[in-house]
Amino acid sequence: MAVTGILLVLFLFAHMAGNLKIFFGGATFDHYAHWLRTIGTPLLPETWYLWIQRTVLTVAVIGHVAAAAILARRARKARPVRYVHRPKVQGSYAARTMRWGGVIILLFVIYHVLDLTTGTVNPVGDEQHPYANVVADFAPGHWYVTVFYALAIVAVGFHLRHGIFSAVRTLGQQTARGERIARISALVLSVVLVAGYLAVPFAVLIGLVK
Ligand code: HEM
Repeated sequence: MAVTGILLVLFLFAHMAGNLKIFFGGATFDHYAHWLRTIGTPLLPETWYLWIQRTVLTVAVIGHVAAAAILARRARKARPVRYVHRPKVQGSYAARTMRWGGVIILLFVIYHVLDLTTGTVNPVGDEQHPYANVVADFAPGHWYVTVFYALAIVAVGFHLRHGIFSAVRTLGQQTARGERIARISALVLSVVLVAGYLAVPFAVLIGLVK
């Protein structure tokens, strides 16, 4: 879970940084999106890097979900007789919402690829102009899509908060001081990520990006 999760987190930060280029204008953003298709050239043919990245991400997501299922099964086996009385509050909100948060994020990514990669469900859906696609997505009249994005981004934040903390523990962190540092770092990284992602729809909504 930790290794596949870290790969996904690295992608999330790189993707957030790329999205923030929207504040430099349409030409810069579209140029950046075009560059994504040419990374690795001329060593690799055009779009090869993109497809390698897509393959790695897909394998990481499948590995992450499979590891979650294996861990859940192990936990059930370790305690074949269910608790008669299960206290309601167990761990943080982030920890308790990992499974359903993960499902929401997965559904969001499917919608998101159909929206901004293939353009299938986007009001503009022009592959050559991703800036126009993003602006159309978060236009006030399309508020339900903005709400869906915002909810998914917050779900990513909760998932990351507990995920980063657990990954650090899995990779060997055991001291009380380290635990405190891991908890704070996980919170800070999640807040930065959520703010960075939310900045784009918010900027479109208030007309800063148009
Ligand atoms: C407001 C927030 C977001 C914006 C504005 C945004 C924008 C975009 C855009 C414009 C693309 C298409 C890039 C291109 O092919 O030219 C894209 C692709 C993608 N985004 Fe996002 N994104 C956001 C949030 C997210 C989140 C939260 C995730 C993951 C949980 C995510 C995962 C992806 C993935 C997996 C792709 C497909 C990359 C590919 O084509 O291989 N995005 N995004």
